[in-house]
Amino acid sequence: MTERVLTGITTTGTPHLGNYVGAIRPAIAASREDGVESFFFLADYHALIKCDDPDRIERSRLEIAATWLAAGLDTERVTFYRQSDIPEVTELNWLLTCVTAKGQMNRAHAYKAAVDANGVQAEDPDAGITMGLFCYPILMAADILLFNAHRVPVGRDQVQHIEMARDVAQRFNHTFGKGRELFVLPQAEIEESVATLPGLDGRKMSKSYDNTVPLFDGGAKALKDAIARIVTDSRLPGEPKDPDSAHLVTIHDAFADAATREAFRADLRAGLGWGDAKQRVVQLIDAHVGPMRERYADLMAHPEHIEDILQAGAAKARAVATPLLAELRHAVGLRPMLAVPQAKAAKAQASKSDLPVFKQYREADGQFYFKLTTADGALLLQSQAFAEGREAGGWVKRFKTDSAVVLGDAPVSLAEGVAREAVEAALAALQAHEAEQGSKPAKG
Ligand code: TRP
Repeated sequence: MTERVLTGITTTGTPHLGNYVGAIRPAIAASREDGVESFFFLADYHALIKCDDPDRIERSRLEIAATWLAAGLDTERVTFYRQSDIPEVTELNWLLTCVTAKGQMNRAHAYKAAVDANGVQAEDPDAGITMGLFCYPILMAADILLFNAHRVPVGRDQVQHIEMARDVAQRFNHTFGKGRELFVLPQAEIEESVATLPGLDGRKMSKSYDNTVPLFDGGAKALKDAIARIVTDSRLPGEPKDPDSAHLVTIHDAFADAATREAFRADLRAGLGWGDAKQRVVQLIDAHVGPMRERYADLMAHPEHIEDILQAGAAKARAVATPLLAELRHAVGLRPMLAVPQAKAAKAQASKSDLPVFKQYREADGQFYFKLTTADGALLLQSQAFAEGREAGGWVKRFKTDSAVVLGDAPVSLAEGVAREAVEAALAALQAHEAEQGSKPAKG
């Protein structure tokens, strides 16, 4: 079986070298493996939660799309789209919102951190907190469940969100699945093997520490300038250096094969100067990133090409999303109204003459049967043969009174040309009527 792997990329900011090594490169490599079907999307609805600067949103979507494409994402192989191009995401978001416990959202880390920060400032606990932030995990669950993803590669900070998505999926399956798994329960996947890249100062490379090395931005010159600012110890050329305590080496290694790594270490131990060492790192990274940078520039010059790619991706994604959403709408009761007694008959006041009818009978073969017809006699459902009359009677009773009886599990077949929905509606009408009868005080 192919496994579905899905990842969202929040579109705030411009990708840096740490994003490339820690997320983009491993994700693209994983998407080339056999037996996986990958979904990558720009989580631009999520970006709106964190950012209210339209120009930044627009710019970041473009840069991130161009980066992933330039880095070699194969859009023939994977499904690459924008979250905001898939209306089914927001539709599912609502269906899930209706089965998500508020108390569970109260426990979400990002929300709690915001409340705590307000506490420290002696602010109102809700100050500056939008419903978007509060409901962030539900939207994320919708992203994942809409595509029935098995695996979701994420950073450690996102694991709680995946657990919440599992939980919501489970609750939905239980409430509406009638024994069927409407949603696959997703699994978080943390890339342990991918080291996080240190930044200029040796802490994790991150925009919030202002210690990043640009990936494409500013060209080779910006790369060179950033590498020049990497902090090293003060040993002079000719003095032996300790490769294991230099984060310049960690950055080097992220782009080097085993032999190159060894040679770099040996040369540092033998006294290679930091300036020369940095020069080597620049060359190494540029050999890897340079050709991508050209593709990136080309894509950025033609946003309309990116738009086309993303539109094609959206069509591919919606081919998966639309049928599932139709099934979910049906499961929760958002169904087409069909020309069988339902709206009217489903009301308990329905007069008996509007209701569908069960008939039990015996055929010439000596076997017992039952059938369900509309009030005016059109066949809806036909039972198989029973040796005993009470077997047939037992099923009829269950059908009339027990709304948990599943059509697919009963020894019956639909009459030709009759939709399952029509029969379900007829049964619901009968059951509502029976319930109403049962709740009335007995007369006499
Ligand atoms: N919240 C994720 C992040 O900040 C991005 C994201 C949105 C996501 N929807 C997702 C990741 C669905 C995985 C699956 O990194």
